[in-house]
Amino acid sequence: MKTYTSTAIEEARTIKPPPTQPAADWAATAYPKDVRLRDDSEALLRPLAQGDEDRLLAFFQLIPEAERFFLKDDVTSPAVIKGWVRDTKRAFALVAEASGRIVGEAALVRRRGKARSHLADVRIVVAEDVRNRGLGTALLSELCDIARASALNGVLFEAVESIQAQALAAADSLGFVRLGRIYGGAIDQTGHLHDVILLAMPLRRWRHSSEF
Ligand SMILES: CC(C)(COP(=O)(O)OP(=O)(O)OC[C@H]1O[C@@H](n2cnc3c(N)ncnc32)[C@H](O)[C@@H]1OP(=O)(O)O)[C@@H](O)C(=O)NCCC(=O)NCCS
Repeated sequence: MKTYTSTAIEEARTIKPPPTQPAADWAATAYPKDVRLRDDSEALLRPLAQGDEDRLLAFFQLIPEAERFFLKDDVTSPAVIKGWVRDTKRAFALVAEASGRIVGEAALVRRRGKARSHLADVRIVVAEDVRNRGLGTALLSELCDIARASALNGVLFEAVESIQAQALAAADSLGFVRLGRIYGGAIDQTGHLHDVILLAMPLRRWRHSSEF
């Protein structure tokens, strides 16, 4: 039987675990930043911060319930919003402000698990009265820049084809690649199935384009 001396046990205790992927250091120094929208109005983009909880909840409460239903999180839950404000390691969230209110929110969320954390999913919502002015596309574009600067390999985006056509249009216009379709990947409140389109923005190849 193998025996261990107290020194060996002490040594084993002090052995450091193998290095894990470093915590996400989001390269997002460009904020706050003004963006000009298609109607010549401006929005201020800045990272989501402590103290935004109530205004973010108010923003999501104004999003039609039929649209909220297809989002992955219950965005009217104070606990969910609190979690988003707190979790700045795994996720990086931007808010857009105009006329003193939040008019958009978008985030990169690293995939779970060390084997997948080189990729991030994206979520994005814009206030109804501010849509079709380019804000959604601008937010998506900013997130891709941040993901690239943060050394992620790619950004993934899922959209319910029949419901989230504007999201698909925004992703298409930025050059996201359509990877495939999940037939019946979403179900609505009446039990009808809808296809989900999976899109990706590959980043690593571009980052090292000089090597190709
Ligand atoms: C997706 C969303 C963020 C886009 O915001 P936005 O500020 O309106 O986006 P943009 O103005 O940059 O672009 C919208 C595009 O959709 C297009 N569009 C508008 N209505 C459309 C429709 N019914 N079908 C197809 N495309 C449409 C617009 O023409 C525009 O494309 P263009 O720039 O080439 O003209 C917004 O619609 C939203 O919050 N939707 C609800 C939440 C959601 O679906 N999120 C995505 C999944 S997380």
